[in-house]
Amino acid sequence: MDDRHQPVLLRETIDAIAPQPDGIYADATAGYGGHSEAILEASAPSGRLLAMDRDAEAVEAVRKRLAAYGDRVTVLQGEFADLTRAAERVGAEFFDGVIADLGLSSPQLEDAQRGFSFAEPGPLDMRMDRSQGETAADLIARLDEAELAGILYRFAQERHSRAIARSIKRALQQGRLTHTTDLRRAVVRVLGPHRRGRIDPATRTFQALRIAVNRELDQLQALIDLLPELLADGGVAVIISFHSLEDRMVKQAFLHDRRLALLQRKPLTACEREKRENPRARSAKLRAARRVARADATEARL
Ligand SMILES: C[S@@+](CC[C@H](N)C(=O)[O-])C[C@H]1O[C@@H](n2cnc3c(N)ncnc32)[C@H](O)[C@@H]1O
Repeated sequence: MDDRHQPVLLRETIDAIAPQPDGIYADATAGYGGHSEAILEASAPSGRLLAMDRDAEAVEAVRKRLAAYGDRVTVLQGEFADLTRAAERVGAEFFDGVIADLGLSSPQLEDAQRGFSFAEPGPLDMRMDRSQGETAADLIARLDEAELAGILYRFAQERHSRAIARSIKRALQQGRLTHTTDLRRAVVRVLGPHRRGRIDPATRTFQALRIAVNRELDQLQALIDLLPELLADGGVAVIISFHSLEDRMVKQAFLHDRRLALLQRKPLTACEREKRENPRARSAKLRAARRVARADATEARL
């Protein structure tokens, strides 16, 4: 078993999707394969799975982990907008279930070289797909102070966004912004040191930059737009989100898209035990919706 990333709300995800041996499923955020493996197990002996991730390292890890399932699984590197093309590649017109467990995996967070955390100095990268796009350092250099403040406010509701943006830009101009720890220092200069029992003062800034670098909300919108036409009649979509901006988008889409019916009005959250054992689960919210049957062509003409 690959225990580098503990999947959140695993039982709830499998209960919602209810994988079947004649089904075909897509895991759009395969990560380290926890949810993917559970879908393959629950749909044994013949259920099929498309496992996708935009991160090349995750793709390699999940390919290894799921190799024993042979041709029941196809692992591809890609982002949400690539799902339609990926479905064609695996010969699926529709999926019986699609899951997306948003955000970062533990190995992404813990590897200082990826630039997502400030526990140790790492490059200011933050890209999930390191083969393309701007790094956090590029983004900070390109944006002016007001634009940077806008990102901190919009993506993390950072109340001190202007002062923090000023401090970051000043550090950059003075040649003092090379590592993640430098970025944290620029935030601490404004907000003061970490206080016990509180989240680290730099957490919100890192969250906002990561969302911007990876265009996470645009990605989620692309997924939301694609989902109804990716799902077979009666097929189920599960999205697990970790902050309110994402959860709001999922909630609105699942509530108002007439092609989808919410499985439960309130999001599912982790039980106390899971929260204790897996701190990532503390902020996880799971929403699930079922594809409403498409109108029969003859019926629609009558
Ligand atoms: C929380 S982890 C998923 C963990 C996985 N469910 C497991 O059990 O191991 C999120 C994963 O989604 C990937 N990801 C995030 N946004 C993505 C997107 N727009 N397209 C494809 N993959 C994405 C990340 O690279 C990361 O590997």
